[in-house]
Amino acid sequence: MTISKKMTTFLEQGSWIRRMFEDGIELKKKYGPDNVFDLSLGNPVFPPPEILYDEMKSLIDNPDKSAHRYMPNAGLDMTRKKVAEFLNKTTNHDFQSRNILMTSGAGGALNVVLKSILDPEDEVVIFTPFFPEYFFYTDNHSGISKIVDSDDKFIPDLNSFDSAINQRTKAVIINSPNNPSGVIYDEKFLIEFSEILKKHENKLQREIFVISDEPYRRIVFDGIDCPNILDFHDNTIVASSFSKDLAIPGERIGYVALSPNIENQNLLMDGVVFANRVLGFVNAPAFMQRAISNILFSSVDIEEYLLRRNFLCDELEKLGYEFVKPEGAFYLFPKSPIEDDVKFTEILKKNKVLVVPGTGFGKKGYFRISFCVDWDSIKGSIYGFKKAIDSID
Ligand SMILES: Cc1ncc(COP(=O)(O)O)c(C=O)c1O
Repeated sequence: MTISKKMTTFLEQGSWIRRMFEDGIELKKKYGPDNVFDLSLGNPVFPPPEILYDEMKSLIDNPDKSAHRYMPNAGLDMTRKKVAEFLNKTTNHDFQSRNILMTSGAGGALNVVLKSILDPEDEVVIFTPFFPEYFFYTDNHSGISKIVDSDDKFIPDLNSFDSAINQRTKAVIINSPNNPSGVIYDEKFLIEFSEILKKHENKLQREIFVISDEPYRRIVFDGIDCPNILDFHDNTIVASSFSKDLAIPGERIGYVALSPNIENQNLLMDGVVFANRVLGFVNAPAFMQRAISNILFSSVDIEEYLLRRNFLCDELEKLGYEFVKPEGAFYLFPKSPIEDDVKFTEILKKNKVLVVPGTGFGKKGYFRISFCVDWDSIKGSIYGFKKAIDSID
């Protein structure tokens, strides 16, 4: 069997999370599912809110037989309008349906955006620690990821960001609340970040897009404000989804929202709509577009995540782990007690706890714990975390 050399390399590079998933299956077979504590996946275990089922039932009970056909590649007018209204209530901006494209999740959204804006070897800045797929999505569209590191609080280094921008820089992806760190970028950061962009836009005499990847925007803790880059940078494209806040990642529903401040944006909208078609998505799933339209303000109970975060933070702190307390999303990104994070995740695995090494997120020396899992997995993991850290001298 011959596959491309590039794919062979990617299969090696990009498989940390998958590897943990497969190891998990093996371990569960060996020790029984109740004795393995899998904190590796960002796949919420909660059911979606009941109101989603009500909407789905109502669609089935009142069938519209034409509702399963192809539709405009941008999505249903009704859903785009509702998403625009939702954004108008939750931001300081005036979105219209013409600014919205319905997509197959945030992953689909990121791909259609990158396909629309990148020429071969254009650069996309990504900040560590990053959602690993950014690197592959950028490559999908012949772009090059330019990685900029963050400090030990996971705030991107703005001097390095400034130096990283050049004539080939087309876009920068930000993700706040962040996977895997749980960090939220505050207003001061966003202002300084957008000032750097403005300086380079003036120099280059063209826009640099911020692609704001926001599937966790509504999962925030302690009443912390999650400031919006839309308020600071005009050339902002939001990529988002309902995967995490409605706990429906398998349903593949999300959207792209072009900031109303992007000048001459009709061409960009034509581009993302065309990309949605030719990437083979064609249109976002029809049934889900209809099912979510009336419940955009609903979400799973964020309190459930908060309780899990608090429990894990308390317990891990007592055991001597160091970490930045997550302000949002549902991940914790502690420092590995030994320099080699891959080795430490192996030690945890021996103690039947599955997590993902920071190396997979471009940040060696850390590891990611996902707490969108059931209580048994969280509580059961503490003994393994203790044994693992105690085994290090
Ligand atoms: C930061 C980030 N962006 C995008 C995605 C993709 O989300 P979706 O399932 O909506 O495609 C994920 C999923 O885990 C994510 O963590």
